[in-house]
Amino acid sequence: MIDKIKQLQAEFQAIELTSADAIEQFRTHYLGSKGTIKALFQALKSVPNEQKKEVGAMMNQLRSVAEEKIIQAKERLSSISTVVDRLDLTRPGGPETIGSRHPLSLVRSEIIELFERIGFSISEGPEIEDDWHNFSALNFPPEHPARDMQDTFFIEKGEQEMALRTHTSSVQVRVMENSTPPIRTISPGRVYRNEAISARAHCFFHQVEGLYIDKNVSFADLKQTLLYFAKEMFGEKAQIRLRPSYFPFTEPSAEVDISCTICNSKGCNVCKYSGWLEILGCGMVDPNVLEASGIDANVYSGFAFGMGIERIAQLKYKVNDLRLYSENDVRFLKQFTPGM
Ligand code: PHE
Repeated sequence: MIDKIKQLQAEFQAIELTSADAIEQFRTHYLGSKGTIKALFQALKSVPNEQKKEVGAMMNQLRSVAEEKIIQAKERLSSISTVVDRLDLTRPGGPETIGSRHPLSLVRSEIIELFERIGFSISEGPEIEDDWHNFSALNFPPEHPARDMQDTFFIEKGEQEMALRTHTSSVQVRVMENSTPPIRTISPGRVYRNEAISARAHCFFHQVEGLYIDKNVSFADLKQTLLYFAKEMFGEKAQIRLRPSYFPFTEPSAEVDISCTICNSKGCNVCKYSGWLEILGCGMVDPNVLEASGIDANVYSGFAFGMGIERIAQLKYKVNDLRLYSENDVRFLKQFTPGM
């Protein structure tokens, strides 16, 4: 008898009452007038007198466990059904807040798209770069003073000293080493410099490199490509101006200014009252660079240019503190929409 009671207790534990039907079935099976518990009480008569008290108490307890189980299951079911009753599926949804693209991503996509329209492909290279691709192959020999202008962060990788690349010009070398002309490619990516962080400088920023190598490429091709870029990016009225400059890997080299978008070239504090703003560096690829990457400089010539994405974004969106781009302040970031 005691075993039977224990067995029933275990049975109750295993049963889950998740519907009104299940509750009713449970009640009739165990507590109903022909139920198991009723039958047990009838069998109590045949229990020896000295055990009757103990067994009777166990049976009472068994019955109240079963009753309690029913009460709890009923409560649970009714609370679920009130939630379902209150659920109105015809109500309009609440507003969903969606994120926005980062201004630098927007500008990068725009630059990529406009160069793709004139046949440039996209190439990428590693941010942790060796000396050869970042400096030596680009005609910066060791100890050359031009290296000082691009101080960066150095890392040791086994025997080799590696550096965080200072410009995307390293990708020029990788593309030239791995393909044969004609080459027409742009290389967007992140670059690093060892600079104190301020409104005008940061220890990392983004560039887009351009490279065009073929037979008979001239400086006129470079100028026309840059004028196309300026007009597509800043509007039909944009003008460009080239100033002679120096880069070890281009000869001749130039820095390119565009007419100030902020004051329409009338003169303002952003263009320092000159009417012009510097946007990129460029030049004809130095024959030494072509040869270092395995391209015959007697057959091929080409041009390269490199621009800072932050700089273009700054002119486009009139943001004058570089630090804002990496602070992750949603109030700043949500103000930018494509085609602004
Ligand atoms: N790599 C140069 C810089 O970071 C820019 C540049 C690229 C200049 C290509 C000429 C040609 O300043």
